[in-house]
Amino acid sequence: MNKTNNNFYPVHIAIIMDGNGRWAKKKSLPRIAGHQKGAKRAREIIEASIKLNLEYLTLFAFSSENWSRPKNEVNDLMVLLNDYLNKETEQYLKRNVKLRVIGNRNRLQSSIVKRIQQIENITINNNGLQLTIALDYSGREDILFAIKEIYKSYVNKNINFDEITIPNLSNYLMTSELPDPDLIIRTSGEVRLSNFFLWQSAYSEFEFVKCCWPDFTKRKFMLCLEKFKNRERRYGNIHE
Ligand code: FPP
Repeated sequence: MNKTNNNFYPVHIAIIMDGNGRWAKKKSLPRIAGHQKGAKRAREIIEASIKLNLEYLTLFAFSSENWSRPKNEVNDLMVLLNDYLNKETEQYLKRNVKLRVIGNRNRLQSSIVKRIQQIENITINNNGLQLTIALDYSGREDILFAIKEIYKSYVNKNINFDEITIPNLSNYLMTSELPDPDLIIRTSGEVRLSNFFLWQSAYSEFEFVKCCWPDFTKRKFMLCLEKFKNRERRYGNIHE
């Protein structure tokens, strides 16, 4: 889905919240302390996005590759996410936030899946900030799944061969209801996508911020938005 930008802020901002572990290590704290502080930052950035009337915010909270971390860290992260989801529902309702969770749900604890479904259902008609949390998300799997689904539609004669197009394939992605991200921010100084929005980022602008996610303040967020205003987006075309 493509959407044009009619104000200076990006329509869809996606954030790779990286560096919780390194933040904790620098402070001689356990890794979970970094994730806890990271969850607090996520709340602040969501709050700032609501206040700025931003339309779409996506937070990459857990990649499919993150399952390979030590069991206790994965457990800690799941407890934190569960806790976060339990505490935020009321807030989402009050603030008109619509929550979507994208990613593979098969490997998540059933209590988390149930909670996600509940929140998605009760916020479905909210038309304020469209908040997406990417959980057990893999960009390659997203594309692979979309290819399989469009292939099924073709085999079942619901679409013909010529209808296998870029916009149509986009409609089979987990992000079919979202515009492509205008701005992707990654914290911690790493300069890579790490299997995040591989298809969706074709024309995204990037902001790689040196600080770790727990140090990513509202001021730093605003700075990224300000810098975006000066980007010239040509989409392969030329600007005289
Ligand atoms: C990356 O830091 C961060 C994660 C894998 C988890 C992100 C999760 C949160 C911020 C918790 C809350 C989420 C929401 C949506 C409220 P890292 O552990 O890879 O850091 P490192 O690269 O320094 O080890």
